[in-house]
Amino acid sequence: MAVFLGIDVGTSGTKTLAMRENGTLLASATAEYPLSSPKPGWSEQNPEDWWKATVETVKKVMKAGKIKPEDIAGIGLSGQMHGSVFLDKAGNVLRPAILWNDQRTAAECADIEKKAGGRDKLIGMVANPALTGFTAPKILWLRKNEPKFYDKTTQILLPKDYVRFRLTGEFATEVSDASGTLLLDVKNRQWCKPLLDKLDISPSLLPKVYESEEVSGKLNAASAKLLDLKAGTPVVGGGGDQAAGAVGNGIVKRGVISATMGTSGVVFAHSDELQIDPQGRVHTFCHAVRDKWHVMGVVLSAGGSLQWYRNQLGQNEIAAAKKIKTDPYNLMTEQASEAPPGCEGLFFLPYLSGERTPHADPNARGAWIGLSLRHGSAHLIRSVMEGASYAMRDCLEIVNDMKIPIREIRLSGGGARSEFWRQMQSDLYGRRVVTTNAEEGPAYGAALLAAAGTGAYKGVVEACTATIKNVTSTDPQAEAKRIYTKCYPMFGRLYKSLKNDFAELQRLIAECE
Ligand code: XUL
Repeated sequence: MAVFLGIDVGTSGTKTLAMRENGTLLASATAEYPLSSPKPGWSEQNPEDWWKATVETVKKVMKAGKIKPEDIAGIGLSGQMHGSVFLDKAGNVLRPAILWNDQRTAAECADIEKKAGGRDKLIGMVANPALTGFTAPKILWLRKNEPKFYDKTTQILLPKDYVRFRLTGEFATEVSDASGTLLLDVKNRQWCKPLLDKLDISPSLLPKVYESEEVSGKLNAASAKLLDLKAGTPVVGGGGDQAAGAVGNGIVKRGVISATMGTSGVVFAHSDELQIDPQGRVHTFCHAVRDKWHVMGVVLSAGGSLQWYRNQLGQNEIAAAKKIKTDPYNLMTEQASEAPPGCEGLFFLPYLSGERTPHADPNARGAWIGLSLRHGSAHLIRSVMEGASYAMRDCLEIVNDMKIPIREIRLSGGGARSEFWRQMQSDLYGRRVVTTNAEEGPAYGAALLAAAGTGAYKGVVEACTATIKNVTSTDPQAEAKRIYTKCYPMFGRLYKSLKNDFAELQRLIAECE
């Protein structure tokens, strides 16, 4: 049976997996690498680390799965979105890649909006407003701040597309990841010439755009030798981590939505046609499914808020978990279950790293509001989980406002593993939530795209239907649903009340520095 490799070039590491044509997993491996922050708000990585991790994990997977090079029928790529790799004409990396979570480009975002003729015009051209994490402002930043590198740049690639370049020698990308550059005409699935002209960016700097399942190149002799694979193995377009993750979770049909509670939280909705939120609160990108789009809300610290609690305030749970050899999160959720839904008036705002959806506010901060003598650690933990879930509901409400049907919500990420958090999400969203058999994330989606693109399936939808099944289903409990329906409007009001204070706080910090 044919085997497909999925490679996900993530932020903390690269994950490679091998999947049989029928969707079953043969082997997977992960290799980690560092992230550097040379200045506050900066976030960079060395593209050579991604390549080394790719080589290491591909070799490990081939060995662990006892796979022969000729069994590999295709390779799919996925990766962290929005990052910028700047290459010179010899294909050398000019400076460390600037990543999706880098915040240095506020001035360039304002500049882009101005040059585009205003925020509405920009959204009209590329379906999205300018956000600091996106690629286009990074290009402008390089031109202004490091002209010595900009002048030598002949190609700009996204992280997974740099790995593609090393595998195949081709400069190529695909529509889903290209959407996050802010330079794609998302409607027509091609580079947006009018915006490139306004920003004075030459189209020759950008790679060729493919559909996600299209073959974008073949493994060249040098990398085949290094990886112990067969030269000529096709490499398909693949997808940005969110679109590939959605394929890996079967979010390829109208009405099926995912809510992924990882470090960040993402609500991802498939859309048959281009649908744009006029306020730009959610991203509208091309989907990894041919001629389809998706709408996506991003909560920057969802599971990340609970992780923050564990690291900063969960020392007792960490020590107790060590003794009984369990995960501290298990003990934390056990405690959380002792507090009632709504936490007796305690709210947590999960804006520990600012927020993208729905507020697009880098000044937003985390907060507990409503503390009283009655509240103990059970309430604190539960309120953090509720705060992250309310923020995800904010994203779902926008999807609903946009008239995208929500027939099924598929949960994934850490928040889907705990039965308690699944129930909380169902109660708080007021809807049935399900989980699937596919837990491997973007790398699995990338492998499915490779299978769809090299003829194992007629297309991405068929590949997902054949391999992904629901395994759990949770319905809301009437009483908890009633409480959350009452509490949810207060969650939104608290941010609104504090918005100006958050901005003031930012100014205060700058003054005190
Ligand atoms: C999506 C986004 C993240 C990164 C890193 O817009 O910023 O998902 O792709 O995972």
